[in-house]
Amino acid sequence: MTDRNILEGKVAIVTGASSGIGRAIAEYLARGGAHVFLVGRTTAPMADCKALIEAQGGMADIVTADVRDINQVQAFINQAVASKGRLDIMVNNAGLEFPAKIMDADPENWRTMLETNVLGLLVGCKAAVQAMRACQAHGHIVNISSVSAQRNNSGVYGATKHAVNVISSSLREELEEDTIRLTNVMPGAIATNFARNFDREFVQQILNMADMDVEVQAGEHLPPGFWRPYNRKRDNFWEIPTMWPKRYSTR
Ligand SMILES: NC(=O)c1ccc[n+]([C@@H]2O[C@H](COP(=O)([O-])OP(=O)(O)OC[C@H]3O[C@@H](n4cnc5c(N)ncnc54)[C@H](OP(=O)(O)O)[C@@H]3O)[C@@H](O)[C@H]2O)c1
Repeated sequence: MTDRNILEGKVAIVTGASSGIGRAIAEYLARGGAHVFLVGRTTAPMADCKALIEAQGGMADIVTADVRDINQVQAFINQAVASKGRLDIMVNNAGLEFPAKIMDADPENWRTMLETNVLGLLVGCKAAVQAMRACQAHGHIVNISSVSAQRNNSGVYGATKHAVNVISSSLREELEEDTIRLTNVMPGAIATNFARNFDREFVQQILNMADMDVEVQAGEHLPPGFWRPYNRKRDNFWEIPTMWPKRYSTR
């Protein structure tokens, strides 16, 4: 659905491109003609994605990197600029959740969420803006937040996404006089591998609340066509939003 060539000559980086939303964004940007750098820790699915993009006539490179490491983030941005001479689009998408009550949680899981969802995104923003300024790009930063940032009881994961919203609105203000735009996306529930760190009971609870009559098994996908747009509030506790990004802000 992207017009081929609308992004011709543009260079994009997508973090968390080995799976789910990031992979879909990467394929979409490549269909528009951008050269896309796919970033993630797991090489094999990114190699599949690169092969698919190239089979469709697009251009992609893969970079195996961990966004929790500041030096690795700076390095893959430098690599993209060194190889293609510019950076136009930076999608800070890599993220994860370990759902748990604060009093039950493992602090190491908090560290992982904070370093991936917040620190990695922050360094990605700063290094990308520096690279875009250096090549005088009319650049675009896209930060993937979550609908969890709209609730005040969404735990440590929600706190990381509240942080993403504040980082996005603060940086957008700092870029007011720049040629770089910033979009903050707050997706609702989307069927990806995001539940990889969820326990089975938690996934079942989500499906039950969405009136989805299916029993989950670890490693299984939902039946095709089963995951449908849904939007309802129950007992002031949980909102199962539509499967597509519900709200976004841009300027
Ligand atoms: N799915 C949803 O319902 C939903 C809703 C709202 C917001 N979101 C947000 O959307 C984003 C993408 O999630 P998704 O649903 O597409 O989940 P996903 O399928 O699990 O994909 C997450 C991606 O992040 C990458 N990643 C995780 N830790 C990383 C690290 N330290 N360094 C580099 N890459 C890392 C993973 O790759 P590797 O493991 O290979 O590194 C993977 O490619 C996340 O920020 C998530 O918070 C998702």
